[in-house]
Amino acid sequence: MDLKTSPEVGGMGHSIRRKEDPRFIRGRGTYVDDVQLPGMLYLDIVRSPHAHAKIVKIDSAKAMAVPGVLAVITGKDLEKYNLHWMPTLMSDTQMVLPVEKVMYQAQEVAAVLATSRYAGADGAAAVEVEYDPLPVVIDPKKALEPGAPVLRTDKKDKKDNHIWHWEWGDKGATDRAFGEAAVTVKEDIYLPRIHVASIETCGCVAHFDKVMDKLTVWMTTQAPHAIRTVFALVAGHVGLAEHKIRIISPDIGGGFGGKVPVYPGYVIAVAASVLTGKPVKWIEDRMENLQADSFARDYHITAELAAKKDGTLTALRIKTLADHGYTDAAANPSKFPAGLFHVCTGSYDLKAAHVEVDGAYTNKPPGGIAYRCSFRVTEAVHTIERMVDLMAHQLNIDPAEFRMKNFVKPEQFPYKSALGWEYDSGNYGGALKKAMDTIGYADLRREQAEKRTRGQLMGIGISSFTEIVGAGPSKHFDILGLKMFDSCEIRVHPTGKAIARFGTKSQGQGHETTYAQILAEELGIPAKDIQVEEGDTDTAPYGLGTYASRSTPVAGAAAAMAARKVRDKARKIAAYLLEAAEDDLVWEPGKFSVKGAPGKSKTIQDIAFAAYTNHPQGMEAGLEAVSYYDPPNLTYPFGSYICVVDVDSGTGEVKIRRFVAIDDCGNIINPMIVQGQVHGGLTMGLAPALFEEISYDEIGNIRGGSFIDYLLPTAMETPKWETGHTVTPSPHHPLGAKGVGESATVGAPAAIANAVVDALWHLGVRHIDIPITPAKVWKLLREKGVTE
Ligand code: CDP
Repeated sequence: MDLKTSPEVGGMGHSIRRKEDPRFIRGRGTYVDDVQLPGMLYLDIVRSPHAHAKIVKIDSAKAMAVPGVLAVITGKDLEKYNLHWMPTLMSDTQMVLPVEKVMYQAQEVAAVLATSRYAGADGAAAVEVEYDPLPVVIDPKKALEPGAPVLRTDKKDKKDNHIWHWEWGDKGATDRAFGEAAVTVKEDIYLPRIHVASIETCGCVAHFDKVMDKLTVWMTTQAPHAIRTVFALVAGHVGLAEHKIRIISPDIGGGFGGKVPVYPGYVIAVAASVLTGKPVKWIEDRMENLQADSFARDYHITAELAAKKDGTLTALRIKTLADHGYTDAAANPSKFPAGLFHVCTGSYDLKAAHVEVDGAYTNKPPGGIAYRCSFRVTEAVHTIERMVDLMAHQLNIDPAEFRMKNFVKPEQFPYKSALGWEYDSGNYGGALKKAMDTIGYADLRREQAEKRTRGQLMGIGISSFTEIVGAGPSKHFDILGLKMFDSCEIRVHPTGKAIARFGTKSQGQGHETTYAQILAEELGIPAKDIQVEEGDTDTAPYGLGTYASRSTPVAGAAAAMAARKVRDKARKIAAYLLEAAEDDLVWEPGKFSVKGAPGKSKTIQDIAFAAYTNHPQGMEAGLEAVSYYDPPNLTYPFGSYICVVDVDSGTGEVKIRRFVAIDDCGNIINPMIVQGQVHGGLTMGLAPALFEEISYDEIGNIRGGSFIDYLLPTAMETPKWETGHTVTPSPHHPLGAKGVGESATVGAPAAIANAVVDALWHLGVRHIDIPITPAKVWKLLREKGVTE
């Protein structure tokens, strides 16, 4: 295969950049930073060293003296156009550039527009800003104490830092169940701030063409259509109407939820391009990405679990404090300010549950995005999997046996959870049994017992998670009022080749491959004859984008439904061509034949040609269809992971010896892609379990703001993942498929944490917050009297 010219390589298309390719100029098949346009200007951002401070003065004189610097843009400049604040996806407000004060370290303070990147950077360094520091609030618990400084002084009636209170479930029934319980366990669990670290940072090239009166933005976004609508709603008053805005999301180098929000840099670049009529490029650097873009997690959870004497679980009660930073910019469906956290009953048949979440403002960047997770599902899974393990240990029942006893059983599906979700299908015991057989669970327990007698610390951790992916249905799910459906449009050309466009946007998940496979399966057109396109709002049908593992459950289903519409029309044309009744035709992938006369048939290619050259009178020409698919329910993928660790009692280091992951995402479209998703997802689950954390000192200085101390695992730290699967189809998805992209990231941290606690339980250790660093374990061991 010639890698330079092979269409297959181009089709998979996320790492091959060919500068001689004309698509390069148009920004397709390449990255945002590769888009080069004549006369392009560059934007660099000045950022705040303070976490909370009044802006006394911004002096741009020295910056303007730097050769190549054209302008220094401040909040006051944007205020003239009412563009200094913008709405967040949760209907809160966020500064584009500040007018009065900054609210977190690394916040945008001003922007420098220059003729080159170098001039922009020099200009940004020369802007002099005078600050008057204000009291800083970092701890969300302190933020809610009476007398805490009120942070959102821009909100006239706001008298505290409380954003919202949200609760779900039957409080009375839950409290009663706790009152009657024979055994209860309670634990404080903190999931710290973490940040996605995609291969590419965020950025855009905004080009307002004054002749065409049209704005084109090449942009690192996971949801191009929604962004176009938001731009039109926010900037309609300065003349940006939706039909005059084109968002192109080319290869964006990974998203993981971090490329859903709108960041100030995008808005400033658009404003600068509209004002100058020149293309303006903004690309953030790695530290800006890590320090200032939206964060994930930061949930302070107190969980309680109740059980009968025999170990039957009865109730779950959770109170959570969510640190949102200075604005609630979470990318959650509108109805659910805590995302889908209320899937926290997990894989267990609990009869009662009640969840409360309170959001708080602090002097930190916006938080709450879903780091490879369907809206707070990782927080939910981590909590229930830790609590179930705690209860099993407390009752001295093997954690695997305990899970088997309490799982929702296959015959209970569709299963209505105590918190109102209707799980579509599952076989939790089947997945756990397969994981136990694969890893040799009984032998490992024997080995552990034997090692313990010699003082060696070995642990076995299980996580049997249930996810919830594929938002809609639109009756429950919207983002800023936009209903969550998704789309596919297919056009079959006269020669039988096809183009299919989608409202989703791949970030490396291989949609080009799997969507083509779905269409090939449904229509019998070879996958290589189908061009798949996403991410251009001028060509793709409207959709809500790719995050929360929704592409297969929603757009994948739309592909099947659109293909079936095409097939219905193809049947009519075939009947006409074969002079047979439609009911007398049988379909096998790729052709219709007359029943009982297999020689009399027409291929899909014959039919496509006839659709443009010889179609029945009275029928419209052409062979195309569009489906806007609104799923009747979410899909509930699940899995069982088992992790074996050895803990070094001298250094506190945790070594993952084995990790078996059995996933079930229903019918699998492409096994190699699914395996790749699980491998990547597991490494992204390992990361917060053992390494990644962003924290702040008491005056708001970020810790973990560069890769020197934000520890991304590399191949060196990553164990060998042993993967496998079971198949429990979704009964409502046209292909029986469920999403898979996030499962491993959601399920892995609890397996690792449970393994470490399992290794130390006999010493009296009940819980360790992630990331489980050597320092934390070493300290615990010393506290428990372990000397080496
Ligand atoms: O929304 P996102 O693409 O991130 O997640 P997904 O729907 O879980 O799909 C991730 C990749 O795995 C896509 O290329 C899917 O088509 C593929 N996949 C599959 O082959 N079979 C499944 N049952 C689920 C996903």
